[in-house]
Amino acid sequence: MGNVNNIALPGNLFEMEERVPPPPLKWAGGKRWLAPSLRKLYAPFRKRRLVEPFVGGMSVALGLHPRKALLCDINPHAIYFYKWLQKGLRIESVMENSAACFYRNRERFNWLLAQGDAASAEASGLFYYLNHTAYNGLCRFNNKGFFNVPFGKYAKIKYRREFEEYKRCLAGWEFRCCDFEEIKLRRGDFVYSDPPFDVEFTKYAKEDFTWKDQARLVKWLAAHPGPVVASNQATPRIMDLYSKHGFKIQVLSAPRMISCTGDRTRVREMLALKNL
Ligand SMILES: C[S@@+](CC[C@H](N)C(=O)[O-])C[C@H]1O[C@@H](n2cnc3c(N)ncnc32)[C@H](O)[C@@H]1O
Repeated sequence: MGNVNNIALPGNLFEMEERVPPPPLKWAGGKRWLAPSLRKLYAPFRKRRLVEPFVGGMSVALGLHPRKALLCDINPHAIYFYKWLQKGLRIESVMENSAACFYRNRERFNWLLAQGDAASAEASGLFYYLNHTAYNGLCRFNNKGFFNVPFGKYAKIKYRREFEEYKRCLAGWEFRCCDFEEIKLRRGDFVYSDPPFDVEFTKYAKEDFTWKDQARLVKWLAAHPGPVVASNQATPRIMDLYSKHGFKIQVLSAPRMISCTGDRTRVREMLALKNL
């Protein structure tokens, strides 16, 4: 595999040129720490539409603050929540950092899902509350589709009720809940791709984003004639895959933000670049 650079980045960079609000959700694999480096890569293309097939916690879009963006994710609750931020969200539900309030709100949220009201403002408000209060910020559903993460026992949580400042910031951005391959890219789009990590040599590999999906993704990205930046865990097979598809590879030392084990050791991440 040719063209691999090793780069060490500090873990806490996030200086904003303009005042933009912080990512409103906690998200496993969030790339807030990477935003300053991505901003440099995006700078020559600032007028292009930013497309994120895996928007997750929205930290990159907020960090780059493009004028036009198409932000997608397969998680419908994150996407409903962002759509509500665009309309102007005020959370009316009771939000307390206690097990009693948490399980009451979790039950109400799951009841709304069962009623087909997942897209309501109330469900989005509860999703925000659960995201901040659940164990390790995890987002997990059982096979009936109900949120089943237990109470997080955080010492202190600062909840927001008003999200007015997001309304202006997200104006002009489009949100879609879909699989990445359903996205119709335009020739000049700047694509930032951050799928679930490839986890090699472990039985805990994420079943919902398999090696087949990683291969499907790299093909889809490589076919795009515009600039593409792709993140992933720097496993040998991932670096080999992107390298074979014509990407230039960099290796970064990244902070581990949310992990089930509480492990915060730094991990090696890959940044793969094409057409820029
Ligand atoms: C590593 S996270 C993205 C984190 C994001 N860059 C951030 O800074 O918060 C990966 C995301 O991919 C989404 N995802 C998983 N499979 C997907 C698929 N087939 N198509 C689109 N999104 C998918 C997950 O819901 C998750 O939000």
